[in-house]
Amino acid sequence: NHAPQDLPAAISALKQVRKAVILAHYYQDEAVQDIADFIGDSLELSRKAAATDAEVIVFCGVHFMAETAKILSPDKTVLLPDLEAGCSLADACPADEFAAFRAEHPDHIAVSYINCSAAVKALSDLICTSSNAVDLVKQLPADRPILFAPDQNLGRWVQRQSGRQLTLWPGSCIVHETFSEQALLQLKLEHPAAEVLAHPECQQHLLDLADFIGSTSALLRQAEQSPATTFIVLTEPGILHQMRLKLPQKTFFEVPGADGCSCNACPYMRLNTLEKVWQCLDRMEPEIVMDEALRLRALAPIEKMLAMSR
Ligand code: 13P
Ligand code: SF4
Repeated sequence: NHAPQDLPAAISALKQVRKAVILAHYYQDEAVQDIADFIGDSLELSRKAAATDAEVIVFCGVHFMAETAKILSPDKTVLLPDLEAGCSLADACPADEFAAFRAEHPDHIAVSYINCSAAVKALSDLICTSSNAVDLVKQLPADRPILFAPDQNLGRWVQRQSGRQLTLWPGSCIVHETFSEQALLQLKLEHPAAEVLAHPECQQHLLDLADFIGSTSALLRQAEQSPATTFIVLTEPGILHQMRLKLPQKTFFEVPGADGCSCNACPYMRLNTLEKVWQCLDRMEPEIVMDEALRLRALAPIEKMLAMSR
C-alpha cells in the first residue's frame, strides 16, 4: 500500500480499525507527538502501557520502551514503527558483560535504569527511571551496597541526591553527552533571567550549571510551575514542542551540540516518522516478540519498581 497524502487522518482511521492506542515519548518528532493519544516520560509510558485496554499499542519511542510495554502487556500487540530505534545506553550494556559485573559484586543490589535490554532487566533486582531513581535508591536497605547500570551520569546524580554510594556501570547517552558547555554559558549570558532545566543524563559539569534537574515530565512540570518566563533546556529538543504548546507565553531555548551542530536530537528516537507509524498500523509490523521465560524474569524488577514508586 502507498502512503496516503493525509497521514494524520489515515492514522486516525486505521487506529479505530485496529483498536490501537498510540503512545509517544517527548523526544519524538513534533508530527508524531501531534498524532499520539498519550505523551509521557518513560515511567508514565510504562504505566499507560500496563493499564490500556486497547488491543494494539503503537509505541513511538525506542526499543527498550516498546519492549517494556510488551513485558507489562504480553497479550497486546506492541508495534514499534522502526525496529532500528535503539538506545546508546542499552547498547553500552551487553547482558553477558553485565552478568559478569554482577558476579564480581555478589553482595550488591543491582538497580538498572529502564534504558536497557530485557536481558539486563532480567539480571537486575530493581528497575528505575530518571523520575523515580533517587526515591527508589533511598528506599533500599542502608546496609546493602548497590550496583547501578547503565548510565553513569544519572548514577552520579542519584548518588549525590540520595547520599548512597553506588558502583557504576560506565555507560552514557550519546545525546546528553553532546551539549556544548560554551553554548550553554553563552545562552546564560544573553538571557541572565533564564532558568536552566536539565535531564540527569547530562554530564556533571553541565548539571552543575542547572537550576532544576529531572526527567522529561519533571522538566515540563517545572516549566509550568516556575515563575520564570525564559528557559534553557538541556535535553533532547523534542520536549520543547510540548513546552511551547502548553506555555505559549514563555520562551524556550535548546542547547546545541559541540561546534553548534544540531546533533542534540536523538538519532534513534527520530527514526520513527509519521509514515512509519501509518505503515506499522497498516502492516501490523514490526512487532515486539519476546521469549516468555525472559519476559517473566524481566517483569519482576519492573513490577517491583511500579510498586515502590509514588
Ligand atoms: P525520561 O524517563 O526522562 O523520559 O528519559 C528517557 C530517556 O531516554 C532520556 O534520554
Ligand atoms: Fe537512549 Fe539517549 Fe536516545 Fe534517550 S536520548 S533514547 S538515553 S540514546
